[in-house]
Amino acid sequence: MNKPKVLVTRKWPAAIEEKLSKLYDVKLNKQDTPLSALELKAALQNYDAILATVTDRFTAEVLSVADRRTKIIANFGVGYDNIDIQAAKQYNLIVTNTPEVLTECTADLTMMLLLMSARRAAEGERLIRRRQWHGWSPTHQLGQKVSGKTLGLIGFGRIAQAVARRAHHGFGMQILFSDPFVPAQDIVEELQAQRCDTIDELLTEAHFVSLHCPGGKATRHLINERRLKLMRPTAHLINTARGDVVDSRALIKALQQQWIAGAGLDVYEGEPNIDQDLLALENVTLLPHLGSATEETRLAMGNRVLDNVTAFFAGQNPVDRVA
Ligand code: DGY
Repeated sequence: MNKPKVLVTRKWPAAIEEKLSKLYDVKLNKQDTPLSALELKAALQNYDAILATVTDRFTAEVLSVADRRTKIIANFGVGYDNIDIQAAKQYNLIVTNTPEVLTECTADLTMMLLLMSARRAAEGERLIRRRQWHGWSPTHQLGQKVSGKTLGLIGFGRIAQAVARRAHHGFGMQILFSDPFVPAQDIVEELQAQRCDTIDELLTEAHFVSLHCPGGKATRHLINERRLKLMRPTAHLINTARGDVVDSRALIKALQQQWIAGAGLDVYEGEPNIDQDLLALENVTLLPHLGSATEETRLAMGNRVLDNVTAFFAGQNPVDRVA
């Protein structure tokens, strides 16, 4: 029997590519160049499974291609807003993601951004590299204290809870959250977390706000000009979720006019293209979508995709099925 034809859209950890190559008739992407809409359409016509990721935009239009061969899109990533799930369901396409395995590293990076933003770390680093640091001074580059402050989490799923654990147990922070879903009572008790009835209430109260909601139409520009104006002038906004949750023009205005003290961003609207005005600002820390970028986590993500695809080809229901 012929092996299933599998496309891996980007370069993956070598150990996973090796395993995949033994099991399937695999096409790898050694150059690691993102695929265009046309290439994705051709892939849908030519492969049984597509092992995709955040840079592959499976819009309704792309998915509607004639003579579709693909039966499963196994996404390397927990977020799957790059795939139009309604359209995938309409075409009986199975979609899977990689939850859990990236929770801890993404939470670590969120805390790193929070600390960097609060303590103006990137700004200090730039100063030294420009050879503009003239020595210690009592009033030089003062930031905000983190320990004991209030952290507001918008979205209170796995990653937000892991951030809350670090912030509460490690930094003695009070935790506020806003989420349409009700979290397990033992977690709320462990973290002494308080639910806010509205996002507006959370934004008004918190010293630090971190975004952990899914991307997509429902959360696009959830953080807009009106909401940024509700935040404290000393507050910091951290985004390790998805770029389009924040109206980036409104955020730039908020940072330029100091409605808030700073922002720490790992994700961007229209990434990897970053607004020039954002680059010009000192009070923003910018990372290139590194949330899950550790060797251990990327291996674990690859293995999770492998499990999902293997289950599918064995006629089972993949564990991480989202469509
Ligand atoms: C995730 O897992 O959602 C990362 O942001 C990469 O897609």
